[in-house]
This record gives sequence, structure tokens and C-alpha cells, in this order.
Amino acid sequence: MCNLNDKLAIKKRRTFAIISHPDAGKTTVTEKMLLLGKILRTSGTVKARGSRKYAKSDWMQIEKDRGISVTTSVIQFQYKNILVNLLDTPGHQDFSEDTYRILTAVDCCLLVIDAAKGIEERTKKLMDVSRLHNTPVITFINKLDRDSLEPIEILDQIEKELNLSCVPITWPISCGSNFKGVFHLDEKVIYLYNKLEKNKVFKIDCNNLNKNLLKKYISLDLTLQIFEELKLISHIYSNFNKKDFLKNVITPIFFGSALTNFAVDHILESLIKWAPPPIYRMSNKRKIKPEEKNFTGFVFKIQANMDLKHHDRIAFIRIVSGKYTKGMKLRHVRIKKNIIISDAFCFIAGDRFSIKIAYPGDIIGIHNHGTIKIGDSFTEGEEINFIGIPSFSPEIFRRILLKNPLQKKQLKKGLMQLSEEGAIQVFHPFNNNHLILGAIGILQFDVVIQRLKTEYKIDAIYEEVNVKFSRWITSSNKKSIDMFLNKNKSYLALDSFNNLTYLAPNEANLNIIISRYVDINFHAIREQ
Ligand code: G4P
Repeated sequence: MCNLNDKLAIKKRRTFAIISHPDAGKTTVTEKMLLLGKILRTSGTVKARGSRKYAKSDWMQIEKDRGISVTTSVIQFQYKNILVNLLDTPGHQDFSEDTYRILTAVDCCLLVIDAAKGIEERTKKLMDVSRLHNTPVITFINKLDRDSLEPIEILDQIEKELNLSCVPITWPISCGSNFKGVFHLDEKVIYLYNKLEKNKVFKIDCNNLNKNLLKKYISLDLTLQIFEELKLISHIYSNFNKKDFLKNVITPIFFGSALTNFAVDHILESLIKWAPPPIYRMSNKRKIKPEEKNFTGFVFKIQANMDLKHHDRIAFIRIVSGKYTKGMKLRHVRIKKNIIISDAFCFIAGDRFSIKIAYPGDIIGIHNHGTIKIGDSFTEGEEINFIGIPSFSPEIFRRILLKNPLQKKQLKKGLMQLSEEGAIQVFHPFNNNHLILGAIGILQFDVVIQRLKTEYKIDAIYEEVNVKFSRWITSSNKKSIDMFLNKNKSYLALDSFNNLTYLAPNEANLNIIISRYVDINFHAIREQ
């Protein structure tokens, strides 16, 4: 077990990521959190308004060309006495498998929903992923300063489509141009929204909720309406229960407007109060608890070209137990080698900072000279491998073609490394020599072409391919697998790690095959 100081350092940490459909306001919420928090681990001072720079990085060539972020930042900031690690999840066109995998490295998620749009497609998929680990979710319904759906309708959608019971902690008083603020159901306080004086919070104590008092601040109509709504929601929704929250059965709901920095502090308050400190992770041998003395951690992301001058690759490790100290010796379990970590980093946008000490819940980046794979475990000697770091079936597919056919060997080598880093998935069909690439986000294809060119001197292009879904195949019945192989060769491929994969041209085909071969398992998610 670690000493008391280290225990305290662990207890003080919260590690979370934001889940949202593009444009719901993830970047804006992040910015406002940075304003509210004391940003740590940055090279210089970060002025309030300059913080946008840290919410979107712009340093890779593709990022520069398109003004978007392809990479992950881990932002560490202090709020009250808690150290918050916020893992930025790539969002727009830069959405990728990494976005999903980052959710395996956090202990809590913040779900941001656009109040005018409700639950959107990407949110559902991200929630499915966060559910793999039963990660607790806090929900922020954003953009109340615009016309919105009825709050009850949004909560209905969350309950039906995300299968989470809602527990409103605040309740909005109207929306759009009529937005007056939120009623805090726990504190029995109204936080008045005042767009002219954004930084001033006006609170009305409602312990003795009194219509005359409210009328002074909001209109009579709205006062009657809020009284009605409060009565209604007290019948519909149950009270907050931390156990159910930690089991991902309920989600506390907050309303606000990130753009005007209204009620983002409510989320931070709930995060430090309810989100768990770093939690244990399962290894192939045993449960690893954060308070254990020895360092353990797993790689959930590999990022190339963090520094264009050095062409380096960085492996991001989530620390599970023990403590990282500069210069320590770690065992890279898969390849059975000990290495001295002379420098570990954290990254915020383009800036790199050397870390001297880090605790469970923290993320450190170490140099990867081509030997580290996603899912690898690092320990102080114990031969354990963390489990639960998945690969996800790609959602977009392309055939890759060489401009110079003589570069076939280099292409295979380059793609092998890129797939080990999780940048792309590569499929080798059974019945031809073409290579099919699969990705979750379209931008991954561009990144691969560019990296093949700069790092491996390979010129390649893409061609459309008739594949819409891929599923990893397993079965305990060898006879069934053999029969399946014989009958479906033209749809089968091996991925980079020799896993058998079915490549379906459309949903109907996939559904027919799944119903026809009941002894065969078709997996959309695979353990690394
Ligand atoms: P994302 O990271 O989830 O993709 O969303 P982002 O924060 O970039 O927000 C998407 C758009 O929504 C931005 O407008 C942003 O200003 C706006 N927005 C975010 N929160 C709120 C809010 O509480 N109220 C209102 N009214 N708008 C909000 P944009 O015009 O696309 O970009 P920008 O020019 O403002 O940066």
C-alpha cells in the first residue's frame, strides 16, 4: 500500500472526458471549465480569453490546413481542492477510434446535450462505449439561452434512448430570450441568468419558496409555471443516489448555457462531489487498486508526430496504481523488457511539459520507438496485462492502392505499425491481394496517407470498396467455423493481428449471415 500522502493525492483526483455530438458545446464547456479552474501544467500563464487555444490544438499539418484538432490533450486543472484531469476527445471530422478508446481511460463522463436538438446519433454510440465499463455520467443540457425542447422531453429521450434514469439537480426557468436561470433543487436556490453581467451570479434563496419573492425577479406567469413544473418533477423523478450514479443507472441533470458561462460551475461542483476518485482496473490476473504501492498503467492511445521536428511517437498511459517518478524503471510486459523512463510528458495542444511525478488517474506520455501497442501494460515488474481496452469495428472502409507497386513490402510494414498504434485498421481479404483499410472517422484516412508519405516515403491513394460493416468472428465450434469459412470466403479477411473478420457489403447481408450461423459470434468490439 502507498503512504498517506500518496493516498491523499489519489483521493484528490478526478479523471473524466466529455461526450457530445459535434456542436453541442464540448469545446465551449471545456473553455469555461479552464476559466473556472486553475490550469496546471502549462508553460506560461493562460489568460481567461486565451484559453480557447487549449481547447483546440492546431499544430499538426492536417490540423493547420483544416483548423481542427486531431489529437488528444489532457488538461489538468485544479478546482477547489481537487485535481481534475480532463481528457479531450476528438470530435468533428477528427472523430476516430481514439475518441471511443479514451472513454476506457476515464472514471466519469460528462454528457453535453444541445437543448434544441436532444439526443443525437453520436451521443448514443459514445454512451454505448462508456457503458462497457459502466462509467458514471453527469449530464449538462446546454444552450438554454436559445429556444429549446421542453426539458421533460429531453429527459424522456435520455431515459428511452440512453437507458439512464434522470435525476434533475437543476431545473431551467424558461429558455431562449426568456431564459431566467435555473432552480437548484438540492440547494433550494435560484441562479438568475443575466446575460449582461455574465460573471455575476444572482442567487435567490428559496428555502421558503414564496411566489411574491419570485415575482420580483421573474414574471408572474413564469413564477406560476415554475411552481407547477417543480411540483410535477418532484412526482416524476427520484432523488439523487450516489450508488446508482456510480453504477451508471442514473444520471444527474444540469441545465445551463456554456457560451455565457452560466451553470458550468454546477457541473464542476458535482464532478468533485460525486465523480469517483481513480478507480481500480481489471488485469488478466487480478484487480489492480490505485492505492497499491507499485506503478501500473496501460496504453490507450498512441500519437505520432507530436513534435514535427522530431517525428516522434508518444504512447499515452493511464496510471492505474502506484506513482510515476522521473527516471523510474518500468517493465513493458508484452515484450518482456525493462526500460528506464527518463522523461514522461503531458501535452496541452502543441505544448509539451515534462512530468516529475504523477499519480493514478493521471495520464503520462512516453516515447514510443515503434515497440508499444495500444493496450500494452507497464508495471514495476509484475507480469500482468490490463483488460478492457477494446478495438472497435470500423465504420468507413477504403481500398488502398500504391502509386508505385514495387513498394508493397514497405506499405505492409507501414500499415502494420499504423494499425498497432490504432491509427487505422487493416484487413487482408482471403480471395485477393488488395488491402482494405477501416476507420471510425473519415479524417483517419487522410492522416494515414500523409503519414505513409512522410514517415515511410510511400505514395498511396484510396478507392471505394463495397464494405459497410466488419465483424470479428469467433466460435467454440471448430466445425461451424470451418463450414463458415468454406461458404463465405469472398467476404472474409484477416485483420493486422490475424483475427478472422467478416466484411459485409450492407446491413441486410450482415443480418442474414448472423441469423444463418447461430454457432458463430459476430463481434463489433474486440479486446486488444
Ligand atoms: P463542440 O466542441 O461540441 O463541437 O461545440 P462548440 O463548443 O464548438 O460549440 C458549437 C457552437 O455552439 C459554437 O458556435 C458555440 O459558440 C455554440 N455554443 C456553445 N455553447 C453555447 C451556448 O450555451 N449557447 C449558445 N447560444 N451557443 C453555444 P459556432 O458559431 O459554431 O462557433 P464560434 O464561432 O462561436 O466559435
